[in-house]
Amino acid sequence: MALQVRPRRSVAKLPQYHPPLEGRAGMLRLDFNENTVGCAPAVVRALRRALDAGGLARYPEYEGAREILASYFGVSANELLMTNGIDDAIKLICDTFVDPGDELVIPAPTFSMYQFFQAVAAGKTRLVPYDDQVRLAATSIIKAVTRRTRWMALANPNNPTGTLISKADLRAILRAAPKVVVLVDEAYFDFSGETVLPWIHEFSNLIVARTFSKGFGLAGVRLGVLIANVELAGLMRRAHAVFPVNSLALVGALEAIRQEDYVRRYAATICANRELLCARLEKMGVSYLPSAANFVFVRVGDRAPEIARRLREQDILVRDWSHDPHLRRYLRLTVGTTAQTRRLARQFELLRPLMDTMDTGDGAGAWQDLVSYSPKERFA
Ligand SMILES: Cc1ncc(COP(=O)(O)O)c(C=O)c1O
Repeated sequence: MALQVRPRRSVAKLPQYHPPLEGRAGMLRLDFNENTVGCAPAVVRALRRALDAGGLARYPEYEGAREILASYFGVSANELLMTNGIDDAIKLICDTFVDPGDELVIPAPTFSMYQFFQAVAAGKTRLVPYDDQVRLAATSIIKAVTRRTRWMALANPNNPTGTLISKADLRAILRAAPKVVVLVDEAYFDFSGETVLPWIHEFSNLIVARTFSKGFGLAGVRLGVLIANVELAGLMRRAHAVFPVNSLALVGALEAIRQEDYVRRYAATICANRELLCARLEKMGVSYLPSAANFVFVRVGDRAPEIARRLREQDILVRDWSHDPHLRRYLRLTVGTTAQTRRLARQFELLRPLMDTMDTGDGAGAWQDLVSYSPKERFA
């Protein structure tokens, strides 16, 4: 059957989609920075209670949930939008602010969905590479802004590097580009403890994103929030779907914040295990980046895909980027419980002969591939 329809030009130009790995159930999943033990049991019970035919038949009602979430984040309800995860929040930002040809500025590498939705919207992306110490100067971000720049996305901490942008740099960026929407994506806030949320009243161009997918263990349920001053939030509300999130996501998230202690304890364990993993990497002489998130970015060298495959044979999934020429020597390891971290470290040590030997003293050379990102290039 010959297809006679055609998509928008921007969609026709998109590279082939690489679907995330399927069949991950039953494996030790250290590949997508999820919570590795799951949400609090009370959240599952609340979701079970919510599963009645009458409730499922009704369209969701949002106002009560929005008030509770807003007060949890310390903002007012009209400063908050609920989205189907941060992914959907990114699409909403593009839907609201991006005309064809408009520009996005992002560090490279970073979370791929910013550039993806920007491309769907027929926008262009300017990449700002890190330096060879994986530092990102505020001045280089600011320099990348042009008259066409509509927004920038700064994941803090960044994915996949795990690195933070300092508050001073964020302030300088927000101040230098008041006509550019600045998304500070705090998906990993539960592990970093760093936030600029209180600044939404100080900077008219700031949007902060949070998610229930990571620390809270609700990636399958899909709930994120965007927070900004009332006027900026109002612009995005104009472009937003009427029923953007499902009613079960609300039940899950509201119970999850009631069980906040559970998340705090989980995050404390993960941060301790992150140090444990880094100590083991240090001992092995494997280059890694100090991380503020629930994952660690390591340089293993040209045989990264083989190492990932060998770990998979042991039922351990880690993130391998061999589809991206700049990231093919690196792996990203999600940090889990103490037992999970020890299991990963043990298997990783067995594979040490496959990894690069580098002087990790100052990491010299270890991050060169990241530096070579060309500002014009798009990455996978
Ligand atoms: C920086 C960053 N932002 C957003 C997301 C996606 O979050 P969500 O599950 O809420 O769509 C991820 C997921 O890996 C991420 O790393």
